[in-house]
Amino acid sequence: MAFMKALYKSGPQPGFELVERPEPQPGPADVKIRVLATGICGTDLHIQSWDPTAESMLTVPLIPGHEFYGEVVEVGEDVRDVRPGDRVSGEGHIVCGICRNCRAGRRQMCIHVQSVGVQRDGAFAEFVVVPETNAWVHHDPSITPELGAIFDPFGNATHTALSFPLVGEDVLITGAGPIGLMAISVARHAGARKIAITDVSPRRLALARQMGADLAVDVSAMTLAEAQHELGLVEGFDVGFEMSGRPSALQGMIENMNHGGRIALLGLPAQPAEIDWGKVVTHMLTLKGIYGREMFETWYAMSAMLSSDPVLRRNVAAVVTDVLPATRWEEGFAVARSGSGGKVVLDWSEI
Ligand SMILES: NC(=O)c1ccc[n+]([C@@H]2O[C@H](COP(=O)([O-])OP(=O)(O)OC[C@H]3O[C@@H](n4cnc5c(N)ncnc54)[C@H](O)[C@@H]3O)[C@@H](O)[C@H]2O)c1
Ligand SMILES: [Zn+2]
Ligand SMILES: [Zn+2]
Repeated sequence: MAFMKALYKSGPQPGFELVERPEPQPGPADVKIRVLATGICGTDLHIQSWDPTAESMLTVPLIPGHEFYGEVVEVGEDVRDVRPGDRVSGEGHIVCGICRNCRAGRRQMCIHVQSVGVQRDGAFAEFVVVPETNAWVHHDPSITPELGAIFDPFGNATHTALSFPLVGEDVLITGAGPIGLMAISVARHAGARKIAITDVSPRRLALARQMGADLAVDVSAMTLAEAQHELGLVEGFDVGFEMSGRPSALQGMIENMNHGGRIALLGLPAQPAEIDWGKVVTHMLTLKGIYGREMFETWYAMSAMLSSDPVLRRNVAAVVTDVLPATRWEEGFAVARSGSGGKVVLDWSEI
């Protein structure tokens, strides 16, 4: 049996170890991918800490990691389109294919979804195995491993930002984490007029300005009413993307929407939170939850936007602020946990 290096959670406790694990073998419909780069996500930080969120969703022992890019090295006998040598990003949600939503083509709404790196072995390793349908083949050779590794969160940003028509609309994004930052570019691409983004981290707000936000608001120093005034808005924001998971951010958004405003919610609140439902009703707001990426329209849109919009491409690539060799994973996790930069990517090419 062949062995590989992998980041491993051996049991229900905090931490990871970089150890040797057996290489995964592809089933008939699977592809085996040599991992070249992986993104570190908030979910991975929960898994590392082994907090109640991680405990409630994880199957241990486990190799975590769900944001990845690599090269296909082997395919199962029933695989039809993906070939060894293809460069791919991974869709980490594995769907059942037979529930009502799957059969209707709404795979992102599968009721039996399983997550790579959460319920089955993931990509913080030299090799990962996923179904052929979960591999997104890059036909554009200029997609770098770092950019390929963030298609999953870029997909979250794209799925959210394309939820509602944006031409001429004034947009409020709460949370300038990697996903909020990427949402600026997608909203701009899709025709938004004014884009405001909020956070409390000066470095992230500076990144947001660099990525073309019209206004980057430190909510500890400025109210959203003041932000509206600064942008010349008189009736409120038309579309909101909640990307912080903070109840106060959603509450502030609801207060500052125009009547008929539309809100897409990506941020995951840790606990149930109060909402002013009276305002939602009388202002006729639409609230839409967003999970994962549309399979695979979001992926199509991401590849198309990256190849047609050089400004978006530059800004999305710039969301990766730190790239470290996988052997320095502890440092990478610490940088990601500090929450002050953009996306942290681990390089697995030379482990
Ligand atoms: N629904 C999904 O499928 C899905 C997928 C991935 C991530 N998420 C969630 O989306 C959110 C964004 O992901 P990310 O990786 O960019 O996360 P992140 O934690 O890096 O970013 C959240 C940002 O919100 C900022 N923030 C904190 N308090 C705030 C406030 N009061 N107002 C505005 N901003 C505030 C933080 O400083 C941080 O920069 C997270 O909540 C994450 O859990 C959801
Ligand atoms: Zn993730
Ligand atoms: Zn299903």
